[in-house]
Amino acid sequence: AAVKKYQFDIQVNNVSRLCHAKPIVTVNGRFPGPTIYAREGDRVLVNVTNHAQYNMSIHWHGLKQYRNGWADGPAYITQCPIQTGNSYVYDFNVTGQRGTLWWHAHILWLRATVYGAIVIMPKQGTPFPFPQPDREEVLLLGEWWNADVEEVEKQGNNLGLPPNMSDAHTINGKPGPLFPCSEKYTFAMQVEQGKTYLLRIINSALNDELFFAIANHNMTVVEIDAVYTKPFSTQSLLIAPGQTTNVLVRANQIPGRYFMAARPFMDVPIPVDNKTATAIFQYKGIPNAVIPKLPNLPAPNDSAFALSYEEKLRSLNSAQYPANVPLKVDRNLFYTIGLGMNSCPSCVNGTRLTASLNNISFVMPQIGLLQAHYFDIKGVFKADFPDKPPTPFNYTGAPLTANLGTARGTRISKIPFNSTVELVLQDTNLLSVESHPFHLHGYNFFVVGTGIGNFVPAKDPAKYNLVDPPERNTVGVPTGGWTAIRFRADNPGVWFLHCHLELHTGWGLKTAFLVEDGPGSDQTVLPPPKDLPPC
Ligand code: C2O
Repeated sequence: AAVKKYQFDIQVNNVSRLCHAKPIVTVNGRFPGPTIYAREGDRVLVNVTNHAQYNMSIHWHGLKQYRNGWADGPAYITQCPIQTGNSYVYDFNVTGQRGTLWWHAHILWLRATVYGAIVIMPKQGTPFPFPQPDREEVLLLGEWWNADVEEVEKQGNNLGLPPNMSDAHTINGKPGPLFPCSEKYTFAMQVEQGKTYLLRIINSALNDELFFAIANHNMTVVEIDAVYTKPFSTQSLLIAPGQTTNVLVRANQIPGRYFMAARPFMDVPIPVDNKTATAIFQYKGIPNAVIPKLPNLPAPNDSAFALSYEEKLRSLNSAQYPANVPLKVDRNLFYTIGLGMNSCPSCVNGTRLTASLNNISFVMPQIGLLQAHYFDIKGVFKADFPDKPPTPFNYTGAPLTANLGTARGTRISKIPFNSTVELVLQDTNLLSVESHPFHLHGYNFFVVGTGIGNFVPAKDPAKYNLVDPPERNTVGVPTGGWTAIRFRADNPGVWFLHCHLELHTGWGLKTAFLVEDGPGSDQTVLPPPKDLPPC
């Protein structure tokens, strides 16, 4: 195994898009940021030096960080931020994982511009469990705001209003020619007739689930969230913020220029955001003057496509890559997801939008929860997060305004080491139903079941897939429905659980699991590194 070293200089650079130049926070002046390459088993050292006037922290999304939450990155959960002028080395091993993951800023909305790919190759001599591609390409799907992103965030958090939508979606930081002044901000991928390409697709957008397709070309899905899947062919795919999807594409059509396109999935009657980012899949030798054609993306509110697509995702579950689904559950958790209004005397309307799990809207602490746990600092959090909502109700029935007011607190759940956990996430009709991509740090989990309407404990578990469910780190909870996940709590530490829609996270749609140390000396949280940023 090798040691891979990277230097990340956090700085502010002027970038222009959509006829509009503005200063943005970047890594090494690049937007999107550099790709981290490693091989399964490597050790990675990333020295992050903060030259910008913002506090910073970086999360390595999907890396398990076994016993090593110190390198996980979410601000005030596992570390205090890296202050202006300071550095911190994220030091971690890539163990038992291979595939596509990504990294992003994990403080405020800075991940809007501070993000990049992580490519983990299988161990030397271990082939992919699918036909070997001739070449590969990273496609980072993102968003662009003409406004200052921190202003948009403040508008969302404090004014009691939903903020401006982004002005464009992007592919590798570029919106493509359907947007003004964007001809030269178009990502193009050169391909050769007959060759096969592995596309590593990452949804780094802040607030949108996205459909993605390539005109005239089918894609074969082979991996999600750095876990191999049973391959299947599809015209379009759906990817939620935080998720990654690897596909194989064969350049087997009439040589030409074809659009690759990404557009939001908005599961509401009237989609309010239908901006399409495009990039070009360009056969060698075809002149740039040839006008590409758009793929047929599913309609923005095509929830039937979404359901049938999710249904096709299955773990490979081979002898080499087994799906070790927990069959018995030690701890059953049932969390309702609510959006609502809270009173806020300092806000413009006297109220603000809020979001909650089991009616609790999470309040960010002033020091990292992992430090508070490790050094036994009292008064930072309460380990009393309820396993069930305070009062059961008809979650997806008529909205109950009585439930709109939510409690606030830094409350998390304590989980004994190595216990098996089932968590059912239930969307509710408080304020509005909406689909929510939930991400758990420090773990992969199995998505054993999902459905529309209320979860029925006496009936739904009988229909679980306990054989080859998809294994991932971020899962969409469908609009007005539920999703059940299972995992074994074998990674001690404090691990963030949150909606990966930045707007909802800001409104409090988050909590954490405190997984206790195990009995073995190799089952405890490691001591913190010396350069861990002070609070
Ligand atoms: Cu990709 Cu907690 O985030």
